[in-house]
Amino acid sequence: MIVIGSDHGGLSLKSALISYLTRRGLQVLDAGTSGDASVDYPDYGQKVSETVIAGQADLGILICGTGIGMSIAANKVPGIRAALVTDVFMARMAKEHNNANVLVLGGRVLDEQKACDLVGAWLDAAFEGGRHQNRLDKITELEHKYNK
Ligand code: RB5
Repeated sequence: MIVIGSDHGGLSLKSALISYLTRRGLQVLDAGTSGDASVDYPDYGQKVSETVIAGQADLGILICGTGIGMSIAANKVPGIRAALVTDVFMARMAKEHNNANVLVLGGRVLDEQKACDLVGAWLDAAFEGGRHQNRLDKITELEHKYNK
């Protein structure tokens, strides 16, 4: 299961990605937003992140205008590793090295084809573990240090 959410700036890209993910045979949970009205991206960043942390989805995708606000918000949730990516190399590395459990995209930055390519690269990649796991463990330690 993949959970996907956006604000108004990512709405049309969200629809395109839901079609792409469904064509890939994946189950998709749409966390909104569902209309053109201006909404606050942290609300959707929280919703998607908490769905992943609760184990109700394996991975999450977040889209706002630039992707910046969503990535800042999602990374406040302990256990979330949200990666804002703009090219295929970054999308692949986000999984191989960072084991990103949330991919973040800019709806006003990417066209639909590029966004599908980025999501595909992230989904097709596998976490390499090893020294990269040690680095993720240090990020978890940071979370523990500042989340008391
Ligand atoms: C909304 O206008 C815009 O600020 C938002 O979509 C996002 O780009 C924030 O980082």
